[in-house]
Amino acid sequence: MAFARLRRLRKNSAVRDWISQTELRASDIILPYFIVEGKRTKRPIKSMPGVYHFSIDKLLEDLSEAAGIESILLFGISDKKDALGSLSYDKDGVVQKAIKAVKKKFADLIVITDVCLCGYTSGGHCGIVKAQGGERRAQNYIIDNDRTLRVLAKIALSHAEQGADFVAPSAMMDGQVGAIREALDENGFEDAGILAYSAKYASNFYGPFREALDSAPRFGDRKTYQVDYRNSDEALREIEEDIREGADIVMVKPALAYLDIICRAKERFNVPIAAYNVSGEYSMIKKMSSGGISERELAIEVLTSIKRAGADLIISYFGKEIGKWLQKA
Ligand code: PBG
Repeated sequence: MAFARLRRLRKNSAVRDWISQTELRASDIILPYFIVEGKRTKRPIKSMPGVYHFSIDKLLEDLSEAAGIESILLFGISDKKDALGSLSYDKDGVVQKAIKAVKKKFADLIVITDVCLCGYTSGGHCGIVKAQGGERRAQNYIIDNDRTLRVLAKIALSHAEQGADFVAPSAMMDGQVGAIREALDENGFEDAGILAYSAKYASNFYGPFREALDSAPRFGDRKTYQVDYRNSDEALREIEEDIREGADIVMVKPALAYLDIICRAKERFNVPIAAYNVSGEYSMIKKMSSGGISERELAIEVLTSIKRAGADLIISYFGKEIGKWLQKA
């Protein structure tokens, strides 16, 4: 009898539950919201079934139904775009107003805000475009890294002023975490935290989101700032730098095709790791589930796997459902 009877530990659900190593909780999930101007608006986003554009009043309504959710991530949708993305730090901007309204009604909810320019610049880039030119394989435009840093710091400050608990810089500019940390500290917001999109890859899985935010680059791509998916050491270096610059939580994005990065990050660093199960990964599950294939089972498997790989927090568009599913279970 030279074999191990591993099936003993799988013999029924009581034993399986008893020895299980990973438990997905609703509080692990960060729920993203897309906020628009106006009132009484809850508009379906075509590329992301089950996800909506919300006006602030409807957002508050939706939050009252979000069982078990303890944190949200806010994105603003702007139809007034310019070259410098100047509306992004407007104190009457839609995100700024949303933060204030949410914190007033749900004081304990952890409010995180996306800090980026792509939804606010006419070029749809995450930074300010400096010059066009160049030839052949050279990029024919340049993103002005350091000028962008100043705008990102202003955005972050405008969010902290309204009560954001964490700001989440996602532009992938070098030095963005440090520039934001400094601006927050100088203005008395040393308690506002930074959840850095540190290892953010140039991914094809962002497609549905870009439609939702109307933020697809009008020219070129994001490969000069987001990480090349052929690389992993570079992603770890990004995380290391962000921690050094003052990030409280670091993120790997996307999640499902980058579980190796989550795993390596968890082994190597001692800060909480977040993972973003992005729009394309969400849409894949939506498209796959029908008939005998359960969306609930698929979503829970995927999110649990991301947690097993080492993520402490997961940003997921399934957040509201997960809350309900796990409550009933
Ligand atoms: C923008 C940003 C992106 C996402 C979150 N913030 C996409 C991008 O780089 O174009 C993607 C989220 C998703 O796909 O769900 N800086």
